[in-house]
This record gives sequence, structure tokens and C-alpha cells, in this order.
Amino acid sequence: MKKIVLATNNRNKAVEIKQLLEGWDIEVLTLQDYPGLEMPGEDRPDFAGNAAKKAEAVASYTGLPAMADDSGLEVDALGGRPGVRSARYAGENSSDRENNELLLKELAGLPPEERGARFRCAVAMAVPGKETRVVEGSCPGRIAEKPDGEGGFGYDPVFIYEPEGITFARMSSEAKNRVSHRGKALQKARKLLKELL
Ligand code: IMP
Repeated sequence: MKKIVLATNNRNKAVEIKQLLEGWDIEVLTLQDYPGLEMPGEDRPDFAGNAAKKAEAVASYTGLPAMADDSGLEVDALGGRPGVRSARYAGENSSDRENNELLLKELAGLPPEERGARFRCAVAMAVPGKETRVVEGSCPGRIAEKPDGEGGFGYDPVFIYEPEGITFARMSSEAKNRVSHRGKALQKARKLLKELL
């Protein structure tokens, strides 16, 4: 049976990607199957670079095809920040709540039309002996004036998905996955996998 290693310790991401591969004759491994593997830092200037770096590190350690993702929020009024620093926006070990508070503070007083933003996600596939491939997905929206909703994670309570006029934190995970940056990137990744494996 073919194998693929997901370069993630995040259970939610692993579940989402496993669902995508359901029905395929493929064994899905994760970093938990390789406790000795040390992941490199996310120090590249863009999502694609970070995703490729992680996938290549795992492919070279395991000798197996590997898939990694990197994602974050870009806010127009902040010149694209927090971007690749989304998880660490308010400090190295900052919580989602601290990151959201800082974001709302930085945008305080800006009218809705100046609060444009997008989530972006890059998924990289590294296969030993082949060139690494990266696909991307993005989802445009607007930053709310205050948090709203209980679902999701990260910036979901402050990210308004324009076509619905509600935050990601108010959408079901199925509805969010259909339109989200990660959902779109993973759909493309599915095609890429068919081609590469
Ligand atoms: P990473 O891809 O695990 O490095 O995550 C980057 C950070 O971007 C997360 O910690 C979140 O703060 C943010 N982020 C990425 N995708 C989403 C999303 O779908 N909703 C909310 N926040 C997200």
C-alpha cells in the first residue's frame, strides 16, 4: 500500500486531510509516527516557502511522500500583516484571544471599507526524487469591529466571510470548509496527489 506522511501534529488538520483521502488505497502517517523527527522553524517570508520547507524536511527524514501546509491572515490596512506571523502576532506564545485583541486595536476607528483581509493557505507536496509542488487557496473577507461567534479557532471570531455577512466562527465547520482558504487549497492538493502518487 502507498504511504504519505502529513507534516503536522495538529489533530484537526490531520483529520481534515485524512477525510480528503478517504476511499484511496493509501496509508496516512503523521509526525506522531516519527517521534525523533525535529521540524524546522517557519522562517520563510511566505506561506508557500514555509509549507515546502516542512514537507521537504519530512520527505527527506522518512524517505516517503510528505504533505505540509502553512496558513494565516493578511490584512490590507496593515500591509499584509500578520501574514506568516499570524500564530505569533501578539508575541511568541500568544493566545488566539490576545492576537484578536491586538488586531482589533490596530484597526480601531477604520470604517468597514478599509478593513479588507484574506486568509491564505499553501499546501506543499514533497516526493523524494521529484520537484516539490505547492498549491494555494485564499478566502477574502473583512475584519469585524468586535469578536462574534463561538466556533472555529484563531481569527475566526473576527473574520467576516463577505458573501454570508457573518464571521467564520458563526459558520458550521462544513460550511466553512467549503469556502475557506484551506478547503480550496486541499481540493487542489487532492488533484496534485493523484498526479504525484
Ligand atoms: P499554521 O498554518 O498552523 O501556521 O497557522 C497559522 C495561524 O493562522 C493560526 O494559528 C491562526 O491564527 C491563523 N489561521 C489559519 N487558518 C485559520 C482559520 O481557518 N481560521 C482562523 N485562523 C486561522
